[in-house]
Amino acid sequence: MERNDPVDRARAIFRQRHGRAPDVIAVAPGRVNLIGDHVDYAGGLVLPIAIERRTAVAIGLGPSDDGLSRISAAEISEERALDLAKPRTPAPPDGPDAFLNYVAGPIDELRRGGLEVPRMDLVITSTIPMGGGLSSSAALEVAVLLGVRHLAGRPVDVLELAREAQRSEHRQAGTPCGIMDMYVSAAARSGHACLIDCRDDSLRRIPMPPSGDAVVLVLDTSTRHELSDGGYASRRADCEEARTRLDIEFLSEADPRLIESADLPERVRRRARHVVGETARVAGFSAALESGDLRTAGELMFESHRSLRDLFEVSCPELDLLVAVAEAHRDRGVLGSRMTGGGFGGCTVTLLEPEAVPGFLSDACGAFVARFGHEPASFVTGAANGAGLSD
Ligand code: GLA
Repeated sequence: MERNDPVDRARAIFRQRHGRAPDVIAVAPGRVNLIGDHVDYAGGLVLPIAIERRTAVAIGLGPSDDGLSRISAAEISEERALDLAKPRTPAPPDGPDAFLNYVAGPIDELRRGGLEVPRMDLVITSTIPMGGGLSSSAALEVAVLLGVRHLAGRPVDVLELAREAQRSEHRQAGTPCGIMDMYVSAAARSGHACLIDCRDDSLRRIPMPPSGDAVVLVLDTSTRHELSDGGYASRRADCEEARTRLDIEFLSEADPRLIESADLPERVRRRARHVVGETARVAGFSAALESGDLRTAGELMFESHRSLRDLFEVSCPELDLLVAVAEAHRDRGVLGSRMTGGGFGGCTVTLLEPEAVPGFLSDACGAFVARFGHEPASFVTGAANGAGLSD
């Protein structure tokens, strides 16, 4: 359980703010992807875990004299009064109302789907760093959808919930993301990674290694990317161009020989190489995890980073430095390391033996401070449970 448990805080703040208890608290975790980035929207394989950082949304039905719902976001000390029954226009992504795209946005999605949205107040608390590549927005969308659907008596399964969150992200937040972040936030199980085949969104849970053998360390460069800007969308468009030119259903299934021989712009060819190579690496990593071959799994993480850096061009100097330090610690218990998520900043994920954590952290932080002038945030995480409800 986290310090400052977000569920307890959401309950307490709701009572303080509204003078009554919430009817339900929905909670959803952030995620870190072990391997398989920039392939979900190309029909590839991904292998994320839910992290032990969560967002809680306390929801209380009615009553309000003016017909408006109060939405309070505790971590950013913002509150807005809205009529949730009315269609909404998405807020500008860099404006003060941007957070509403992840709260009122999913509710608008439900309304569009024909659900009669009850009058309600919402209080949001979170321990997921915002905008840091750990899917704080997906967690918020999933928690809102789970809680509101529960109160409306219209629950759906985890995949439908994830698809609804993804549609909301596309329409309300303007990010053409894949399904990975919301799906793992909705569907994860403690102690397991989620192997998702994004051709048909099928999911298989793979046990994580015992914590005595290896742990997952997240290092946050605190370099904030903005996925809504062009970088993500242009990579996605490159993949779509490759798929269309190769005339196949999923770029992840392209024959590597075809990628080399086809008439493709060089940039697009590099993107396609990444997608096919990364999908093969996820399959290899999963098999290695299942057979306990953590060395092989770790090497595939390093390879994945090189591919994201050189072929997909979504890394940055901060991420590259942290991965380089990890590579230098291969003989001291570091198994593998890579950038994780969308890139352009954000976090690295490192798989390492538990005894190796202090030495690696001290060297990684030292090198980072020397070059960039500030310390990266860090935490070790187990694979946590997906979204759920509490009263
Ligand atoms: C972001 C998107 C995901 C996925 C990753 C890259 O997190 O939301 O759908 O594309 O980037 O793997």
